Amino acid sequence: MNILITGGAGYIGSHTILELLEQGYEVPYSIDNYLNSEEDNYKKIEKIANKKVTFFNIDLKNKKATKSFFKSTKIDAVIHFAALKSVPESVENPIECYQNNVGGLINLVQAMQENNVHQLIFSSSCSVYGNPEQLPVNENTPFGKAESPYARSKQIGENILEDFCKANKDFNVISLRYFNPAGAHPSGFIGEGFTERPNNLVPLITQTAVGLRDKLTVFGTDYNTKDGSCVRDYIHVVDVAQAHVKALGYFDKMKRNYQVINLGTGNGTTVLEIIKSFEKVSGEKLNYELGPRRAGDVETIYADNSKAKKELQWEAKLNIEDMVATAWKWQQKLKV
Ligand code: UD1
Repeated sequence: MNILITGGAGYIGSHTILELLEQGYEVPYSIDNYLNSEEDNYKKIEKIANKKVTFFNIDLKNKKATKSFFKSTKIDAVIHFAALKSVPESVENPIECYQNNVGGLINLVQAMQENNVHQLIFSSSCSVYGNPEQLPVNENTPFGKAESPYARSKQIGENILEDFCKANKDFNVISLRYFNPAGAHPSGFIGEGFTERPNNLVPLITQTAVGLRDKLTVFGTDYNTKDGSCVRDYIHVVDVAQAHVKALGYFDKMKRNYQVINLGTGNGTTVLEIIKSFEKVSGEKLNYELGPRRAGDVETIYADNSKAKKELQWEAKLNIEDMVATAWKWQQKLKV
């Protein structure tokens, strides 16, 4: 089976390539524009797995290059990670977010259709639920008010794919709604934050602990949660990667040709609990301050993960300590 990973040099993409190689998939193809990642990551993947990856510098916004890639390469299924994921950056520059996350998706789907590639796994996000009224959220929970252009770009992406699947019955799509991926590969060689401007909590914690940042600000301590800070469903990136491999095996079993599946652990953890867990695992004292709420943050969200268990036979195996321990190992190995 020839698998194409878009955004394979990025955070979740690189872990998924590793997982595919470890589970016996032959030389996956990857395309990336290195906007938020580095080509060097492929070398690290190849070193860990002792297997080859075939990769190309292609930007999905370039329709011609995308089409010509599909024309010249036989692909059976696509796992589509290539997108911008920073919520604050999407607020500052919404057009760039939509160009990459929506424009890139449309070019990809057109190129797939023209070349008879009919299986797509799409990286969606729990942010499509907005600020949910009922918890945990399951796949029937309707889209909420998008709190950012990033969240809206994922809602639009899902809408486009669902419409496309209605019009093209031979096309199969699985939208995986990630909750909060964190952690790094246990080798410590690949992880999150290839760029110098991460916005996600765990890389900001490890960058602060290693001295790259003065302090971490906890965004909001007056939420209606057990300690006043926001609650999220953090999930280890290796678990997320493994879910993608399971999803490849689900195409043949799908009853409808468009499926949505939550990827979460089902557990909610506060920001302060993550910090405590990091301090325990690393033995470091984190320099942090309690600050005001961040615009666009939802108070509490965590997954109902029963559909993933039932349909993919997948369940997260790693916990918060595994996430902060592997992220810390990765941060310490990084030469920034
Ligand atoms: C959001 C999306 C998630 C998406 C991710 C991509 C929601 C509910 N989730 O995650 O689906 O995959 O963006 O980037 O919209 N925090 C601090 N201080 C910091 C940074 C973060 O306190 O310096 C807090 C935030 O307020 C939040 C938590 O840490 O409560 C996690 O934040 P972050 O890692 O940025 O992810 P989300 O915004 O939850």
